[in-house]
Amino acid sequence: MKRIAILGSTGSIGQSTLSIVESYPERFAVLSLAAGRNLDVVHRQCIRWRPRVVSLATEELAATLRNRLRRDGVSETEVVWGTEGSVRAATLPEVDFVVSAIVGVAGLQATYEAVRAGKTIGLANKEAMVAAGEILTAVAREKNVALLPIDSEHNAVHQCMRAGERAEVRQIWLTASGGPFRTLPLSEFEKITVEQALRHPTWVMGRRITIDSATMLNKGLEIIEACRLFDLTPSAVKVTVHPQSTVHSLVEYVDGSLLAQISVTDMRLPILYALSYPERVESDLRFDMERLAELQFEAPDFQRFPCLRLAYQAAEKGGAHAIALNAADEVAVAAFLERAIPFLGIPATIEEVLETTSETHPATIREVLALDCEARETAHEVLSRRYAARPA
Ligand SMILES: NC(=O)c1ccc[n+]([C@@H]2O[C@H](COP(=O)([O-])OP(=O)(O)OC[C@H]3O[C@@H](n4cnc5c(N)ncnc54)[C@H](OP(=O)(O)O)[C@@H]3O)[C@@H](O)[C@H]2O)c1
Repeated sequence: MKRIAILGSTGSIGQSTLSIVESYPERFAVLSLAAGRNLDVVHRQCIRWRPRVVSLATEELAATLRNRLRRDGVSETEVVWGTEGSVRAATLPEVDFVVSAIVGVAGLQATYEAVRAGKTIGLANKEAMVAAGEILTAVAREKNVALLPIDSEHNAVHQCMRAGERAEVRQIWLTASGGPFRTLPLSEFEKITVEQALRHPTWVMGRRITIDSATMLNKGLEIIEACRLFDLTPSAVKVTVHPQSTVHSLVEYVDGSLLAQISVTDMRLPILYALSYPERVESDLRFDMERLAELQFEAPDFQRFPCLRLAYQAAEKGGAHAIALNAADEVAVAAFLERAIPFLGIPATIEEVLETTSETHPATIREVLALDCEARETAHEVLSRRYAARPA
């Protein structure tokens, strides 16, 4: 029985994880949960799963949940809050496996402490890897902790890499759906609305990652994540646009063989893979072979998706540049979702923040968080100067 902590339990990945736990009660048990502000969902989850610990974003929300649980006669759940709360949920001694699925840098500290505590990690929170991947992978090596990717592309690469030796890998190919604007005329980009950008053609995900898919910054974050997870240079991480999202990624070996992982577009599969690794567990997530009849692959268009170019540049520089790429994007996407800036304001803001970012390589999480704060402040300055946008 694996005892699991789910960080980001109320989100898309968190809820898919709970549905896997529901399907395999003989294998997995929920020990702790951490969420942000969605009180109603977390309350329902506490009633259903009776976690030992649950964490919410603020003290006030935690107090409300505590009262509700007391009223419902749930006495076994300790309610905590804030970063310390999610760290507590992630590092309980009885936890075997931590699903890291808080969105953004907010998930970094708990992921880091879970690695330090020797927990196996199922990593969905790519922003933690982008901001602090050098530190996280070093601690994971030192503690002999497995970082198992849940992001479908990295999960696919992880699976394909089991077929050969690391030294036999020439490069990897991350597939990208191209998002909703793959074929939209460039002249219409300045009029893109929030509703259009939230309409992803193949995946149902949280709001930030959906917008990041529309700008392809998501693929950019994944390039950096892949460099860190698989110890590759940015030039060995290629992107191919594959609108059907059927091939989840490929590994190219030195002899010219390409191994691809194909499955349904359903995040429960990579979650199940990570939770059961190194075993493979039977599931009903079956793939319809007819979907192989029409598969397209094309080169990414860097003019259409400047975020991809910016991400490769940040991947080359690493350190503060990777941190700033993510931080500026978090701020710009929030402003776009609030309708304070246009769609094209996202790459413009990131580019301007990167131009003022120094080439620093932080050695501690505290330094990472300080650089993250600095980049956010610069992003807010850019937004207020360019668009008179209020800080999000
Ligand atoms: N969805 C996918 O298919 C997918 C695929 C690959 C990778 N990922 C990655 O997985 C992560 C989660 O994505 P998602 O789509 O599941 O996002 P989501 O649906 O927006 O969920 C985000 C989760 O993070 C929680 N959260 C936000 N701020 C928090 C804070 N300060 N403290 C504690 N919890 C906080 C949210 O809590 P509340 O809702 O309670 O506020 C929610 O549980 C992201 O890093 C994303 O890039 C997602």
